[in-house]
Amino acid sequence: MKYQVAVLPGDGVGPEVILETQKVLERVAQKLGFSFDWRHFPYGAEYYLSHGQVLPPGALAAIGQNQALLLGAVGDPKVPPGPLEQELLLALRFHFDQFLNLRPAKTWPNVPLPCPLKPGEELDIVVVRENTEDFYMGLGGSFSGPTQKALLQARRDLYQFTAELDLKVEPATTGAFSLGLLTEPAVRRIARKAAEITLARGENKLHVATKANALPQFYGFWDRVTLDEIQKTSDLKASYINVDNLCYQLPRAPGQFGVILCPNLFGDIVSDLVSALAGGLGLAASGNIGPQFSMFEPVHGSAPDIAGTGRANPLAAIISGAMLLESLDQKAGADLTLRAVRDYLAQGQNLPLELGGPSTTSQVGDLVAEQLKLL
Ligand code: NAD
Ligand code: IPM
Ligand code: MN
Repeated sequence: MKYQVAVLPGDGVGPEVILETQKVLERVAQKLGFSFDWRHFPYGAEYYLSHGQVLPPGALAAIGQNQALLLGAVGDPKVPPGPLEQELLLALRFHFDQFLNLRPAKTWPNVPLPCPLKPGEELDIVVVRENTEDFYMGLGGSFSGPTQKALLQARRDLYQFTAELDLKVEPATTGAFSLGLLTEPAVRRIARKAAEITLARGENKLHVATKANALPQFYGFWDRVTLDEIQKTSDLKASYINVDNLCYQLPRAPGQFGVILCPNLFGDIVSDLVSALAGGLGLAASGNIGPQFSMFEPVHGSAPDIAGTGRANPLAAIISGAMLLESLDQKAGADLTLRAVRDYLAQGQNLPLELGGPSTTSQVGDLVAEQLKLL
């Protein structure tokens, strides 16, 4: 069995952690008798700066010719914030309709949690983030003067959206605006997924992050549609929590949370918070799941502050690799990868620099690969 997997290492620590992920996944494949045909894509800051475009025509289609995508991170101080993130990362999520962003965070051995848990309690949270709408639509712009027209368009698999705006500001000033969007089919499908995930975990409570108090027209809709969808599962209880309170409760009593359903922007923020509670971004894995083609990447970014120093913990990318294997129905490979990570951490020796140990990025990859030999 040979899996054809696209790899987009990207920028900063992206290539560093992806190298270790490929190292570990290659060993897993060897052990279980399958192999990878890695298809490398060079996009990111360097490509953009030398070619003057983020992606060449046809790039998304070429990436989609593979069975899945493993991505490092994009973003570089040499490029202003925006183009790489929007036209590469978000473009991939939207193009492949990867509406489900799964961001699990749990306790690992010897990883100290900077948050209180009751005796016997473990951190086992999964952020289920809607990944195509909200304030990530890319619908916005700046204005100057008393009046201005704006034509805003966005395409998703579910719809084509157009807004023709006549802006008037008195007295005239310059400013910027952004249009969020929530549509019923998109909100229903993510709520249904979150409900399924909660039930599959054997739980009956699903937390839903909202901010309907400040934006009732917008997140009130989110609340109504998610509630209607979740209530179709009679034994499930939806518990709505304002996202500011959620960010307050999480560090104080994280044990009360399991599945947390979030709209796109809150999901981004809450997942970094939850990653910190679980021991660090260097352990936080994620999947962007679409109907045909999914992408797996660490939650963290390109971390330019530590790029090239060996300080990047590659475990988040390696765990994302395990999620990729699971998506390819290679459950044995996924389990083996996770066991190797767990056993390595359980030894408590030669931990990653991020966790206060001595091991650099490539040493952590080697140590996980070593563990595989014992399994
Ligand atoms: P970041 O996630 O890159 O870094 C936040 C902090 O966490 C930094 O102190 C960094 O050193 C640390 N960190 C991150 N990953 C780590 C790891 N594996 N091991 C140890 N420490 C780690 O967030 P940022 O600084 O806001 O963003 C940097 C760039 O990355 C920006 O250009 C941003 O747009 C981009 N970004 C990309 C993605 C993505 O491609 N998926 C995600 C987030 C941010
Ligand atoms: C993430 C990142 C992205 C997001 C950025 C880089 C656009 O923060 O994957 O968490 O906001 O989704
Ligand atoms: Mn983020």
